[in-house]
Amino acid sequence: MTALAVAAADAHHAAHAVELAAELRLPLVEASKDGLLLLVDDDGLRLSEPGSGASLRCDLATGRAGYRRRHGGGTGQALARAVGLRGRARPDVLDATAGLGRDGFELAGLGCRVTLVERAPVIHALLRDGLARAAHSDPATCERIQLLCRDALELLRELGADELDTRPDVIYLDPMHPPRTKAALVRKEMRLLRAVVGVDADADELVDAALHAARERVVVKRPARAAPLAGREPDWQVTGRTTRYDVYRGQAT
Ligand SMILES: C[S@@+](CC[C@H](N)C(=O)[O-])C[C@H]1O[C@@H](n2cnc3c(N)ncnc32)[C@H](O)[C@@H]1O
Repeated sequence: MTALAVAAADAHHAAHAVELAAELRLPLVEASKDGLLLLVDDDGLRLSEPGSGASLRCDLATGRAGYRRRHGGGTGQALARAVGLRGRARPDVLDATAGLGRDGFELAGLGCRVTLVERAPVIHALLRDGLARAAHSDPATCERIQLLCRDALELLRELGADELDTRPDVIYLDPMHPPRTKAALVRKEMRLLRAVVGVDADADELVDAALHAARERVVVKRPARAAPLAGREPDWQVTGRTTRYDVYRGQAT
């Protein structure tokens, strides 16, 4: 994984950058430094690679995620159908691989209570920043979201030992997968994310733990043509153009 440092874009953001560097135990550098930077600026936090022009921010209310919220098809979209949103049903969802929170935010926007779990502290910091900004424009959605910075594998194993009625209805998984084509490699945003979190080599274990923990179902997001995680054939699938959702029955069904 690539070395990372924290920087402030200007003097106004110096205190925030110092705090963040201490929290994440990362070096504090000048914004002019080359390499991978977690940059604090007027718009919040940004993962930035000045040399390549690549940059990644958690934007939940605007940008692509905002467009998806407005035009994404509501409960008719593949993600919502896979998770089981129909009529008034709004299952509680544990998103065990939160990343930049787009899928989880979408489900919370549709009325689900969502727990976002992200283990990479830098991605968690970007997500926390994105949620804080989204709370101004979409407070109702943010009130349905809880964010945890921890390893979901450990959490799922704990939940699997709890009483069934205290567990989440749905466990949602979208682990990082190896790039399939050169085109995927050149997507700057994905490359930056991968530089920070790598490939989720323990994804198969996550599916096994999720299957023991979920009440209603486990939903795994996969590239349309990829093999199922852990070689486990799903009970059914919801397929989109480039993405597929593998759905497994949980412990209460
Ligand atoms: C592909 S991204 C998820 C993207 C997300 N679905 C979205 O809509 O933005 C995968 C994320 O899962 C996180 N992750 C993978 N395994 C995890 C685990 N065991 N516990 C917590 N987070 C995990 C990775 O750090 C990475 O940020």
